[in-house]
Amino acid sequence: MQSMVILISGRGSNMQALLEAGLPVAAVISNNPAAEGLAFSRAHGIPTHAIDHRAFSGREAFDSALAEIIDTYQPDLVALAGFMRILSESFVNHYQGRLINIHPSLLPAFSGLDTHVRALQEGVKIHGCTVHFVTPKLDHGPIIIQAAVPVLADDTPATLAARVLAQEHRIYPQAANWFLQGQLTLAENRVETGIACDGQKVLYSPGITS
Ligand code: GRF
Repeated sequence: MQSMVILISGRGSNMQALLEAGLPVAAVISNNPAAEGLAFSRAHGIPTHAIDHRAFSGREAFDSALAEIIDTYQPDLVALAGFMRILSESFVNHYQGRLINIHPSLLPAFSGLDTHVRALQEGVKIHGCTVHFVTPKLDHGPIIIQAAVPVLADDTPATLAARVLAQEHRIYPQAANWFLQGQLTLAENRVETGIACDGQKVLYSPGITS
């Protein structure tokens, strides 16, 4: 039986979407004991851990304690869902090819923080979200699926974030499900979904909406 572990730091709405999609979540782990999302996973009987990064001497020490908990579950997939910690290269390499993240922009545009504010400042007409494999370079791993939303004239960061978040909740379960079904293959920097499109395999994400 395939399984996944989810890492969160706060609200946990993407974690909730993954759980509600019926994915085989073995555990939820947060670096923040006060993360709002922990109550939801606990209430749903999912083994839930809080491991406070502030109790560790440094990034490597925290990351290896985190990996120790994750590895007790022997998950096929580790999903970062609003996990607000930069992970060390050794951690990322340990989970190479089975560590995914959701980012609230159409990567490679707007990597990093405050994506919705920056999208509005730049005047982009289309914004969105991306699920990608995690590599040591922040927000730069191979892209699995993206969803696009229009940017409206009267958008604020909050209204734009809400529009993007609704798409996050749609594409993250889709990506995790593809992975766990063995439908994703990595070919250099491209992710093949193996989903037929007009009888042919596609190398772009079929999840783009307009
Ligand atoms: C989401 O926008 C996600 O893309 C980003 O952090 C936010 C987390 O939200 N990485 P939530 O905790 O899943 O509600």
